[in-house]
Amino acid sequence: MSADAPGHPVPGPGVDEDKGATGAANSSAYDPAGDWQHPLWTSLLPIGRDEATGGYRRYAFSAAEAACRDWFRAAAADRGLVTETDRNGNLWAWWAPPGAAPGGPGAVVTGSHLDSVPDGGAFDGPLGVVSAFAAIDLLRERGLVPVRPLGVAAFVEEEGARFGVACLGSRLLTGVLTPAAAAGLTDADGIGLPEAMTAAGFDAAAIGPEPERLDRIAAYVELHIEQGRALEPIGAAIGVAASIWPHGRWRIDFTGRADHAGTTALADRHDPMLPYAATVLAARTAAAGHGGRATIGKVIAEPGGANAICSAVRCWLDARAPDAATLDRLTGAILDAAAASAAEHGVAMTSRRESFTPVVDFDSGLRERVLAALAAHGIDAPVLPTGAGHDAGILADQLPTAMLFVRNPTGVSHAPGERAVAADCDAGVRALAAVLEELACR
Ligand code: GLV
Ligand code: MN
Ligand code: MN
Repeated sequence: MSADAPGHPVPGPGVDEDKGATGAANSSAYDPAGDWQHPLWTSLLPIGRDEATGGYRRYAFSAAEAACRDWFRAAAADRGLVTETDRNGNLWAWWAPPGAAPGGPGAVVTGSHLDSVPDGGAFDGPLGVVSAFAAIDLLRERGLVPVRPLGVAAFVEEEGARFGVACLGSRLLTGVLTPAAAAGLTDADGIGLPEAMTAAGFDAAAIGPEPERLDRIAAYVELHIEQGRALEPIGAAIGVAASIWPHGRWRIDFTGRADHAGTTALADRHDPMLPYAATVLAARTAAAGHGGRATIGKVIAEPGGANAICSAVRCWLDARAPDAATLDRLTGAILDAAAASAAEHGVAMTSRRESFTPVVDFDSGLRERVLAALAAHGIDAPVLPTGAGHDAGILADQLPTAMLFVRNPTGVSHAPGERAVAADCDAGVRALAAVLEELACR
């Protein structure tokens, strides 16, 4: 793989070049076949899966997501954990030390998310939640008991697939997103977040930051499928996160003039599809030129007649780069090109940033403890930067956070083809248990 591929080996956001091929002694049993048969995994797999595509459509506050919540509560209840839902709809399940209150202070939390992108893979998010419960099982099998509360969390709308803002649940929890801003969010059908929450049985008026909850958490550790292919070439089953590239989403609207496809002379057209097309190409060129990533993966052509010029084209730009200054230059170049092409074609253009996450450098002290705990269990995990966003990155602003990655043999993610092999999923559970033992049981 070249440096141009996100999350890929050398160099780029998927691997720490200092570790490279030498930090990889954790992978003796790599078996390219075999699906994970853990009962928690197989019970979650059918929920929200589209039969035709094989991808997942687990959107926030949908029926599929409600079924995922039921699965979470059942998994917690089976383990005697106390479940609660916070003001923002995030789920928490607690294993408290004898005599201690669930939820802290000094709590250690692990988890991830259960929602998906459109036709997402099975692993992005759910692997971290399943592994959290499975790691608790493993600690219990070993006769370990936490000395501080140990929690499992599942955050709402991490992908932003329904309301456009990634990590919605953790942004509301931390106050990075205000309740007023969240209340103004709408989905593709024009349904507002408050309406969707109310329909799903939540109190939409209660959303907002919970500093007292965050104060009670000493550390958050998220296990996640690797989104890229850095671990496989170096023979490592498990990696540890160093940082997350700054990234964001921009909505761009091109408004032109609807007209007849056969009779409107080329010179008379105000076709919004033309600056849209120029923007797609500009994104690719700018990403290559700036060493970043820029993707337009969602577009709406209105009204969408095959024999008509569109009245409007709306698209979403996802842009990421190694540092803030590069991201600014990258997005500036793309939006400038979009504006120039819109002007050339007599089309109006507006753009708006919908979601943004600054660079995240995970807590180095916690990372060293994680690496030491892994090493004590014979796991030598390479340290990798990533181009993907995570709730751990949002929480990192307010408490020490760390991430473990489980090898993705193909690197495919945000697609039905995403996978991890059974042996690596088991290795992930053992790695997470080692970390939780160190953080919560000593
Ligand atoms: C989430 O996975 C993202 O990086 O967008
Ligand atoms: Mn994702
Ligand atoms: Mn994820």
